[in-house]
Amino acid sequence: MEQAQGAGLPGQISLGAAARTPAPPSGLAAAAEPEERELEAALRPKTLDDFVGQERVRKQLALVLAASRIRGRSADHVLMSGPPGLGKTTLAMIIASEMNAPLRISSGPAIQHAGDLAAILSSLTEGEVLFLDEIHRMSRPAEEMLYMAMEDYRVDIIVGKGAGATAIPLELPPFTLVGATTRAGLLPGPLRDRFGFTGHLEFYSVAELELVLRRSAGMLDLKLTSAGFAEIAGRSRGTPRIANRLLRRVRDWALVHGIETIDTSTASAALDMYEVDARGLDRLDRSVLEALVNKFNGGPVGLSTLAIAVGEEPETVETVAEPFLVREGLLGRTPRGRIAMPAAWDHLGLRMPGNAVAAAMLPFDEDDIDD
Ligand SMILES: Nc1ncnc2c1ncn2[C@@H]1O[C@H](COP(=O)(O)OP(=O)(O)OP(=O)(O)O)[C@@H](O)[C@H]1O
Ligand SMILES: [Mg+2]
Repeated sequence: MEQAQGAGLPGQISLGAAARTPAPPSGLAAAAEPEERELEAALRPKTLDDFVGQERVRKQLALVLAASRIRGRSADHVLMSGPPGLGKTTLAMIIASEMNAPLRISSGPAIQHAGDLAAILSSLTEGEVLFLDEIHRMSRPAEEMLYMAMEDYRVDIIVGKGAGATAIPLELPPFTLVGATTRAGLLPGPLRDRFGFTGHLEFYSVAELELVLRRSAGMLDLKLTSAGFAEIAGRSRGTPRIANRLLRRVRDWALVHGIETIDTSTASAALDMYEVDARGLDRLDRSVLEALVNKFNGGPVGLSTLAIAVGEEPETVETVAEPFLVREGLLGRTPRGRIAMPAAWDHLGLRMPGNAVAAAMLPFDEDDIDD
């Protein structure tokens, strides 16, 4: 109990810090500074109606929220999964505001001990929304405490140590847990099953990204032609965060060059300068493909070896670069490792050697990937 009431609520972070954006591993990384983060927060849609795209998830979520409002209960627990920058944190904030409920924010890595989680849970108020970002990185004991909290709105607080330790049960007010993860596959089954609704966010179409950009340009008071919007949207890797970031870089370029209305040529000149290619690949994406092709003759090569070759963590390669490269048909994941698809050789302006073609023809089995 003492643990639960201790000051400072370990594991919690403030709302501002929660707009925590892992620095993008690209030439634009240096730009993700505090002012940029503020801007990112300002551009966040505040309601479901403002939230562009993800039609399916949006409709399903709207239904879940409407039903719980009618029943006068807190909403069922919600899990958001998908690659970085697609709107998981944004949706968590929207859930709280649509439910007219306060929002508490923490993250898996911040919760190292069950006590950290107990402190947060025991201070929740009725109906509060608890957002746990990167929920797959929570410690085991905390995870087990969360099972009971989610299902029975109860936690056992352990007081004392060893043989004299006793568990004091503590009732919790009904709350809504919103978990976010870029690696849904890493969540243990029992945790996944306790969410009443799972929304899987997909990459956005170019048309949807144009809408995101139009909305942001309106808020930033920028003038762009339709083709200008399309040019930026096409290079945004299907990701609203990237679309907004590229828009700000193009804005800088236009400002310095005294350009009032941003058209295709302004947008493409600016983005070329920032090493975002016509297909939207950034430096990390390209170095992954280049390593695959130049160092491993197109693969197959294991994820960790590939990550070392580009000087990144395997997790970064897997969650940041790969989902997009796979979707674009540039990279394949096989049981024996990663391979460069014919389109990757094409994109790099190289001819695919015969033996690499043979490797690319091997059967794929996504379920059978070991690393
Ligand atoms: N559907 C959307 N419509 C408009 N803007 C969006 C949308 N989704 C995301 N954004 C913008 O993209 C930015 C990043 O979104 P968000 O922080 O929610 O991503 P995330 O999925 O939580 O990423 P991470 O996995 O890195 O935490 C937000 O600041 C917001 O401005
Ligand atoms: Mg987030």
